[in-house]
Amino acid sequence: MATPIALTENFGILPQVSEGVFTAPLRRPAHLAEDWVEAAQRQYSPDDHAIWDALYARQTDILPGRACSAFMTGLEKLRLDRGGVPEFARLSAELGALTGWSVVPVPMLIPDHVFFWHLANRRFPAGNFIRTRASFDYIEEPDVFHDVFGHVPMLTDPVFADYMQEYGRAGWKAMRYNRLKALGALYWYTVEFGLIQEAEGLRIYGAGILSGPQEAVFALDGQSPNRIMLNVDRVMRTDYVISDLQPTYFVIDSFADLYHQTVERDFDRLYRSLAPGFTYANAALIDVDDVLHRGTQEYHLRGGRPSGARPT
Ligand SMILES: [Fe+2]
Repeated sequence: MATPIALTENFGILPQVSEGVFTAPLRRPAHLAEDWVEAAQRQYSPDDHAIWDALYARQTDILPGRACSAFMTGLEKLRLDRGGVPEFARLSAELGALTGWSVVPVPMLIPDHVFFWHLANRRFPAGNFIRTRASFDYIEEPDVFHDVFGHVPMLTDPVFADYMQEYGRAGWKAMRYNRLKALGALYWYTVEFGLIQEAEGLRIYGAGILSGPQEAVFALDGQSPNRIMLNVDRVMRTDYVISDLQPTYFVIDSFADLYHQTVERDFDRLYRSLAPGFTYANAALIDVDDVLHRGTQEYHLRGGRPSGARPT
């Protein structure tokens, strides 16, 4: 049983991680303060801006009828089609007027506790670099295209914007119980790879899907992956794939439903009952699942991305 570690819950102050808490060991570059925020946004070259434009054109070709309405509305509201990598100062001013969020540049993946602290204060940390043409289709480290195109439009939706802040605040409790892995799985299966049931059918709200070309089709139409209604207790016990398409996607009814399932529940009880590692494999179906589609898992059985298997 997990025993909580004392930690002050003042969301304005950067939390210090106790020694026993497992988190990714990231070394802070010498030029950055404890908030990991860069002093200024990078000066992008004309080629960098052209890469943004090409990625933007490709995704906006694929996403109508696949992305959720909140994302498509957010894209329009923020006018991310003005050409080139958006300027964060302008983006923050416009987003701030809508939901009080801002976007701050960070050099790379940042430690969990710093990430939670920014989210809890309605700041979204976004990569201060863009992929090269050599890694046009796939990158592991989130760049400015993934972060701004994939995540920021969703922050114009008031309920989702509140969910993201509450997710950040939930980080304090997860650190107290040393259960960051479980909270990370919740983020993965909602904010990064979540699907939502809309009146017209299944749609995407996860940034990991919205910012890549292949997964938008695979997640919605593929026969391989499972599609299951979101159950927070189950998701927080489920392992996930970082470097390939997901074997399982979780579906919500609405952002209000997501908010209720997560924010308005007793995570203390949940954390006390969780094992330190994951209980369920990423492709598993279990008794409690409300299954929308039972995946064949053919893509992963054929070896997934390393084998060159066709997503199907
Ligand atoms: Fe992301």
